[in-house]
Amino acid sequence: MLKLFACLLLLITGITSAKDIDQSVLIDGKVLYTEECQKCHDNSLVPISDGTSMQSLDDIRWQISTCVTALGIFWMPNDEEDVAQYLNHDFFHFKNTPKPDS
Ligand code: HEC
Repeated sequence: MLKLFACLLLLITGITSAKDIDQSVLIDGKVLYTEECQKCHDNSLVPISDGTSMQSLDDIRWQISTCVTALGIFWMPNDEEDVAQYLNHDFFHFKNTPKPDS
């Protein structure tokens, strides 16, 4: 009984201490990026970067749209956002601002 209680407690604290970004978003973004984007952005997963052109999460969103459009990739509407969240979370670390048109 005590064990069950401990498990429940762990579960509850696990849920409430979850980060602000849903892990499934980051995983989805990583898979999409690995599938479609690594042809040009090398195996280390680091995007091509001059270190200055990306200044915010919105810049990343814009650049991803540009790359996706240029490549003619068919993605679901939230796929670009998932990749934006993933790249920002793992590499760019800009402030997480809401998507402008949502
Ligand atoms: C055909 C090669 C190619 C593919 C495939 C590609 N990109 Fe790019 N990407 C580029 C080039 C070239 C640049 C630099 C563009 C510039 O600076 O004007 C770039 C720049 C970027 C940047 C900005 C990086 C920085 O720090 O300046 C991001 C973010 C990005 N791409 C994301 C993606 C995503 C997401 C995908 C998958 C949908 C993708 N790219 C697929 C060629 C590619």
